[in-house]
Amino acid sequence: MNNTQLATAPDIAAFLATWLHNDLLQGEAATTFNSYYGAFRRNFSDRMRSYYAEQIREIEALVRASPNMRVLEVGCGLGTESLWLALKGAQVTALDVREDRIAGAQARLSVLQDQVDRPLHVEFSMQSILDLAEAQPFDAVWMEQAFHHLEPRSDVVAKIARLLKPGGHLVISEANALNPLIQAELLVRRGWPRVETMTGPDGKDILYGVERITTAHALGRAFAAHDIDRQSLRYFRMFPSAAVFDSLGGLERALAYRWLAPILTHFNWVGQKRQD
Ligand SMILES: C[S@@+](CC[C@H](N)C(=O)[O-])C[C@H]1O[C@@H](n2cnc3c(N)ncnc32)[C@H](O)[C@@H]1O
Repeated sequence: MNNTQLATAPDIAAFLATWLHNDLLQGEAATTFNSYYGAFRRNFSDRMRSYYAEQIREIEALVRASPNMRVLEVGCGLGTESLWLALKGAQVTALDVREDRIAGAQARLSVLQDQVDRPLHVEFSMQSILDLAEAQPFDAVWMEQAFHHLEPRSDVVAKIARLLKPGGHLVISEANALNPLIQAELLVRRGWPRVETMTGPDGKDILYGVERITTAHALGRAFAAHDIDRQSLRYFRMFPSAAVFDSLGGLERALAYRWLAPILTHFNWVGQKRQD
């Protein structure tokens, strides 16, 4: 592979595709990566690539406007978005409670750092958001498909508000609980939404939401009570990622209106913390 491909990828989808189509990792990290991205390894079509790139649009625009900003990613998984935002200049702190994911993200950082001729500022840390020190609040907090796992929810909302600077941005990309098909699919897959206990970092028990998806309006109400007001809301996508839906990409884009929210599967919600 061309060694500069990761660093010069035109967007995050091309960045992820480079990882998917080249064996850049070894051992445990490669196994974790291949299983985590199994669906994308089967089908990372133009449709899925464009949604993947668009999902990060708001936080990426903030970083491009203020490189060096301090970003917290909550529930970073294998770190694709944190690595991408760091490549764009952000100073990123990225948290996850899963050891294999943080180890995989760290391995990817080493590969990427070898290909970039300046230090990347990204720190992967295995800890729950509820345990993160609050001494240095962030310019932005970002999370993708993570909010529905974070528990207890009211504590997490209050914690995020404390972790954000006045004027700072909160960007959340989520599955849309208004969509009846998503609700039906989840009901079959996981039963009623529930909170479970799992062993977290340091062997401590932590709470984990099993797909406790919510609506953008409920999100807005919860954060408004902590001085974070909605700045924008965008709904998108109608169909699952399987290749059979790729031919319907034009239709789902044509119907991506806020008033059609119940037939759309995802939303991006951006809030800003009030100034003191
Ligand atoms: C669906 S994944 C997020 C995917 C990620 N955006 C990506 O691109 O790979 C949600 C992550 O949140 C993590 N998580 C769950 N509870 C957490 C907590 N209390 N603090 C930090 N991370 C948590 C999970 O371990 C999981 O990896």
